[in-house]
Amino acid sequence: MHLDRQSVSRLGDRLLFPDLEGSAYLAHAAISPLSTPVAERIAEVTRDYGRGGMAGFVRWAPRLQQVRRDLAALISAEPSEIAFIANTTQGVIDIAFGLPWRKGDRVVLFDGEFPANVTPWQQAAEEFGLELCWLSLDAFHDSVDAGLADLERALDRGVRVVAVSAVQYKTGLRMPLAEMAALCHKYGAEIFVDAIQALGATPVDVSWGIDYLSSGSHKHLMGAEGAGFLYVAERCAATLKPRLAGWLGHEDPAAFLMGDEPRLRYDNPLQRGAQALEIGTSNVIGLAALGASIELLRQLGVPAIHAHIDAYLDQLEAGLVERGFISHRAKVPALRSTLLSMAVPHDVRLSKLGAALRERGVVCNTPDGLIRFAPHWPNAHDEVPKVLAIMDEALAALRGRV
Ligand SMILES: Cc1ncc(COP(=O)(O)O)c(C=O)c1O
Repeated sequence: MHLDRQSVSRLGDRLLFPDLEGSAYLAHAAISPLSTPVAERIAEVTRDYGRGGMAGFVRWAPRLQQVRRDLAALISAEPSEIAFIANTTQGVIDIAFGLPWRKGDRVVLFDGEFPANVTPWQQAAEEFGLELCWLSLDAFHDSVDAGLADLERALDRGVRVVAVSAVQYKTGLRMPLAEMAALCHKYGAEIFVDAIQALGATPVDVSWGIDYLSSGSHKHLMGAEGAGFLYVAERCAATLKPRLAGWLGHEDPAAFLMGDEPRLRYDNPLQRGAQALEIGTSNVIGLAALGASIELLRQLGVPAIHAHIDAYLDQLEAGLVERGFISHRAKVPALRSTLLSMAVPHDVRLSKLGAALRERGVVCNTPDGLIRFAPHWPNAHDEVPKVLAIMDEALAALRGRV
């Protein structure tokens, strides 16, 4: 296949983001800007639906199946294990309300997780009489062994599910998913992973033993908001009992819309596993955008993207430490993601620093008391000295020195 320059992704090259303003976009852990190929894919869908309504649907339905295959390949799953959903939270809700709970079942959660992976479990706990067991993430920050030992103690009491993010949104800690999954299975528990802070930039592979995984597409996957996917391992499909289902969840759900004879019925069984959770028509525009973005990510490969960003963050972290910031980046490389979070110097107000950087063309985030930098493949390494110079200007302005 011939790829023109406008659809080739190159590490450290912003060419595919011609509308991106400012010197450095470091907020991929919040929302990614849209590349030209992604924006063009959205325009293509819009044109097709504008021209032909149903004809647009007919053209894009098979292309969405390719997106399903691409998503499956990204995490080493089978396409039948993937359901299209609206966002990460929907996937958490689907599983929290889809497991065949028994009163008193325990769910392990981690204190400090993004609320998307907490609220649905709290709701399910109220509804089904579950016990939530909170573990601290601090132990994992101290050492993987200490974190896993905490987890094992909890599992030993009897746990049904452990819910965890692949990468912690606040500190960027990359959780040791393979080790956690192995422990869960040793004690008869399952593991649910919120993967939105990892996918696209930090490798995740469901063959590590992940049972369920949910993600939206607007962060490191570099797609648009409102389109995501849920993975349900084939081995878990039979136990899932969706309490929330819709017309597309049945076997052969659209048969009554085609053919010569009336065939409408309401008692077709639900499909098994992930596909039962596709409740109604999908976000075709968002999923097509995600498909275009995955094509760009695949050209580079997630391990190469991760290494590129890691080298960028090495430089940025060193420069910020020199300026009095305190790094929350894991010391052990295996626990690092593509997020760098720092505590700001004591004489600086975090929100004011975020705003001062934004005004000067450096976009980053300030979640829960830390400043967080999240570059991606288009960020060039030679951008870092510029970011540090802008940081110096912003700090000087806040300290009243300019
Ligand atoms: C770890 C994590 N999970 C989930 C979300 C967002 O969830 P959703 O895709 O449902 O909006 C975020 C957003 O910042 C996040 O950091």
